[in-house]
Amino acid sequence: MHNTRKINDDVFWVGANDKRLSLFESAFPLPNGISYNSFLVLDEKTILLDCVDKAVSGVFFENLNFLLQNRKLDYVVISHAEPDHCATLGQLILRFPDVKIIGNARTFCMIKQFFDFDADKHAVVVKEGDEIVTGKHRFVFYTAAMVHWPEVMVTYDSTDKYLYSADAFGTFGTLNGNIFADEVDFDRDFLDEARRYYTNIVGKYGVQVQAILKKTSSLEISVLLPLHGPIWRKNFDSIMGKYQKWSTYTPEEEGVLIAYASVYGNTENAANILATKLAEGGIKKIAMFDVSVTHPSFVLSQAFRFSHIVFASTTYNSNIFISMETLLQDIMAHNLQNRTVAFIENGSWAAQSERLMKEILTPLKNTTFLENTVSLKSSVKQNSLAEIENLAKAIIASFSKSGAAIVHESKVEPNAFFKITYGLFVLTSNNSSGKNSGCIINTVMQITDQPKQIVIAINKANYTHDLIAESKKFNVTSLTTDSRFDIFERFGFQSGRDTDKFAGFENFCEKSENGLYYITRDANSFLSCDVISATDYGTHTLFVAQVSQAMVLSNAPSLSYQYYFDHIKPKPVVKQQTPGKRIYVCKICGYIQESDGELPDDYICPLCKHPKSDMELQV
Ligand code: FEO
Repeated sequence: MHNTRKINDDVFWVGANDKRLSLFESAFPLPNGISYNSFLVLDEKTILLDCVDKAVSGVFFENLNFLLQNRKLDYVVISHAEPDHCATLGQLILRFPDVKIIGNARTFCMIKQFFDFDADKHAVVVKEGDEIVTGKHRFVFYTAAMVHWPEVMVTYDSTDKYLYSADAFGTFGTLNGNIFADEVDFDRDFLDEARRYYTNIVGKYGVQVQAILKKTSSLEISVLLPLHGPIWRKNFDSIMGKYQKWSTYTPEEEGVLIAYASVYGNTENAANILATKLAEGGIKKIAMFDVSVTHPSFVLSQAFRFSHIVFASTTYNSNIFISMETLLQDIMAHNLQNRTVAFIENGSWAAQSERLMKEILTPLKNTTFLENTVSLKSSVKQNSLAEIENLAKAIIASFSKSGAAIVHESKVEPNAFFKITYGLFVLTSNNSSGKNSGCIINTVMQITDQPKQIVIAINKANYTHDLIAESKKFNVTSLTTDSRFDIFERFGFQSGRDTDKFAGFENFCEKSENGLYYITRDANSFLSCDVISATDYGTHTLFVAQVSQAMVLSNAPSLSYQYYFDHIKPKPVVKQQTPGKRIYVCKICGYIQESDGELPDDYICPLCKHPKSDMELQV
């Protein structure tokens, strides 16, 4: 039976999922399966954007038959000739013998290598920027060589502003009914697999990924449609920001990956002690993997995530332990750069794994090797404890000056939490491009004391929401009863998408240790927070976060909503009513709207953007 989803009136998802495949490309474990996306556009001419893997051909052809309703298929675009997308092309030709195949010259070389049918008879060869019109829709083609094969291209529907992005922005993991990224908790359920997919499949080709990011940056995009995983209808900055970091080999987070290979548990013991010493030194983000039991694709992915990597390996047959050597060669092959690396070696009679590990990694660009190698003879003894402590200190000292990775409890003043009320706060964040913004919120609540965690609610329409979703960090400044109305005009009544809210406000804000602004005027405290989880509540997202810094700024009382309405918000000037007209006053900002009758249901206050329900009729 067919299984499709409508994306818009003309465009349909006709792909399928495979939860049975154990190894993608016979190489990468798929604990959550994989989706093969394919898209059918029903225009004056019908056009299919890519096929699927042969494992899911049954439902794929049922999907096509169901939607085409005996219409013929006019075109199929082959963005990528790899068999996970193209294996069903031969069957497609048998079912639709008149279909035209759209691809570039390299696509047709690949098709001829994989298939025996007469490809030239079907070929429509396109070049960079060529356009095919199917009626209402206009499809433009851009090459994306090596993302992930040389023939890859992406397709832009300039009518709908849809970018069909081939493998780019894809992820492992099946689509379980919810095919859109905004229908799922992407960061919780897909981000790790998106990173593992990117790093293992195209991690080596950062320069080429940068090229396609640049090429598509000038396109207005309303929907981003990869060939694997969820389809993006909003928050493109989130996945594109990740691609920006991954493709430039910039660490996504400050933290330590410890990868160890241990035959009898002694090297593992040293790795665990190091992790404890790092945690005692305030390092929050530590990931550990026994490389003998974890597939290298998972460890490689974490190596792209973190700024620091410790490799701990026993010496084995005068070499590096086999599973560690496999990992190191994999990291080498994927061109990782810009990392700080340290080693723990072990050897009962001739330890030399550090030298050999370093030899493999030395060609990696911009890699800093810490000199404090721990060298064990069989097991951890008292003297090696001192070496492990020294390595932990060296790692901590090498973190960036922002200290974002390090939490010092003393930086968290308990009294700052006493300033939280159901009041008004300035919430600030930034993104990977360094864009800062902020907005006004009214919901901040402390939920636990050990560790110190808070929850905030923020309207998804706010630009600051998108910044937090990307950066996973924010500051919240508690406002006081001394607040002046201009702070609400600045942070509440304009959008950070088109305004720099800090312009002209430089003297009234500073940066905390996480690099974000907090407000110093009209404020009594601020909290710096790292997001732990995000829960979607329709119009709003609840972010639960751990507090990394908290500071009292003044003893002025916190501002309640009631105080704001009674004393800070300007009183509306009673406007002389024009006969036959109604006057509405915004409860939030005081804006006056004259109207011939009832305000329309979709009315939005032009000043503060609050809805009709916040407009009061002046009587
Ligand atoms: Fe999804 Fe490169 O194939």
